[in-house]
Amino acid sequence: MLPTLPLEKILHSQGFGTRRECRALIRDEAVSVNGEPCDDPTAVFATANLEFTVYDEPWPYREKTYIVFNKPAHFECSHKPIHHPSIFGLLPPPLVLRGVQCVGRLDEDTTGLLLLSDDGQFIHRMSSPKWKVPKTYLVTAKHPVSDELIRRLKEGVLLHDESEPIVALACERVSEYQLTLMLAEGKYHQVKRMVAAAGNRVEQLQRIRIGNLALDTDLAEGEWRWLDPAEIGSPEAKQVQNNHQNPPIGP
Ligand code: URA
Repeated sequence: MLPTLPLEKILHSQGFGTRRECRALIRDEAVSVNGEPCDDPTAVFATANLEFTVYDEPWPYREKTYIVFNKPAHFECSHKPIHHPSIFGLLPPPLVLRGVQCVGRLDEDTTGLLLLSDDGQFIHRMSSPKWKVPKTYLVTAKHPVSDELIRRLKEGVLLHDESEPIVALACERVSEYQLTLMLAEGKYHQVKRMVAAAGNRVEQLQRIRIGNLALDTDLAEGEWRWLDPAEIGSPEAKQVQNNHQNPPIGP
């Protein structure tokens, strides 16, 4: 059951700053709860289905945050990027402040489906090799996709520093230069290294699926949406067309 909490604590838990900063926001009349302005930081609310606004921007209460992000190229999945800006700069500050982390990273030049969460157990379960959550990639190759390439990826390729060949769970030619590749592991540069070991080269890489969760066709690169609880951990979880607008953040 979700708790009943003072407004100041609610805002703090949702990433709106220190307790003191949240108190100031509330006293400045920047906050409404369930449609009613509230300038009392000690006012108590049930958090179940709670909707609040900060500077008129709507924000649903979430005990834990799970989001789907369509990663653009030329962003790094790190809080301390080296060569390119961080994807965390593309997310609303409250999500970053409450500590969302990437569930497995994508390379700087890889686009597509990235999950982020502040639920440590969920992150561990989704990224642990033990659970083998399959990830599917759309690969655009430098050279035409041959039957031999598909065969080698399916039969397994030996990567440098690995003792056993790694096999694709599935691999299909999509067009002359494109294939889909489903993998059980998430090793460093795995797709690029496997395709290279099988005699071709990755020109573009997009992650299109994690488990049964497909990248939404209506989520543009750089956009995110809340992950519906029904989509989390459920084997039946399917792509949910979700018309959520990204909640903009107040000043
Ligand atoms: N494999 C890669 O080579 N790069 C990624 O970003 C993800 C998987």
